[in-house]
Amino acid sequence: MSRFTLIAGNWKMFKPPREAVQFSRRLVEAMEVPKGREVVIAPAFPALAAVAAVLQGSGISLAAQNVHPAPRGAFTGEVSAEMLRDAGCRYVIVGHSERRSGFGETDELINRKLVAVLASGLKPILCIGETLAEREREKTLEIIARQLNAGLKNVAPDDMEGAVIAYEPVWAIGTGKTATPGQAQEVHAFIRGELGGKYGTAAARRIRIVYGGSVNPGNMGQLMAEKDIDGALVGGASIEVASFSQIVNYAEV
Ligand code: PGA
Repeated sequence: MSRFTLIAGNWKMFKPPREAVQFSRRLVEAMEVPKGREVVIAPAFPALAAVAAVLQGSGISLAAQNVHPAPRGAFTGEVSAEMLRDAGCRYVIVGHSERRSGFGETDELINRKLVAVLASGLKPILCIGETLAEREREKTLEIIARQLNAGLKNVAPDDMEGAVIAYEPVWAIGTGKTATPGQAQEVHAFIRGELGGKYGTAAARRIRIVYGGSVNPGNMGQLMAEKDIDGALVGGASIEVASFSQIVNYAEV
């Protein structure tokens, strides 16, 4: 079963708009998107529209890092899915652990965001993952099942076409500590099993499940050799052209 590999760079709050545009230009010049792979970058909100213009015709797509669940309204400081689509986005990251832990996002709120993203014709990248304490208490699969099922509540099988799940163990994000390919594969296979129970095996086989957490040019090839790992959500290593290009051009090992 071949799934289109997805490699997404999450720039977090690192690049101001001008730098984001310059960086995107360099990326477009340096990178040819390999066949069978999809490359996505997620700049901060104020850079989205300008980066979208740079990416036109490049084969690289745009993602946002967050969204508000309402279509529009009196929500000072918030941004709707419709606005993100209008700015040129194709994907939206929802439920990143930094938002869960730093901004009190609950599974219920994340589900509303995901539903709003789908309703506006964008594709969600739903992030789920356990903390170190949860892993040590052997609660990993329980946490994953809860976050996955709550995040996908009321989402119909047809809506899952194009949706992406990102397994991001919290203890691996920004720490330099990657899950081993075996650890990641175990959770990815579990996620695919859960999706199979919800949407049927055939649909579950089509849904992409990407890994995130200290992905770098040195470990990408090994992670991608696992059968249920369909790509990567990359933070730190995505904000340099060289390391991100190497990750995109990985060879399985
Ligand atoms: P990292 O971040 O690659 O820097 O660990 C991943 C993420 O937060 O999505």
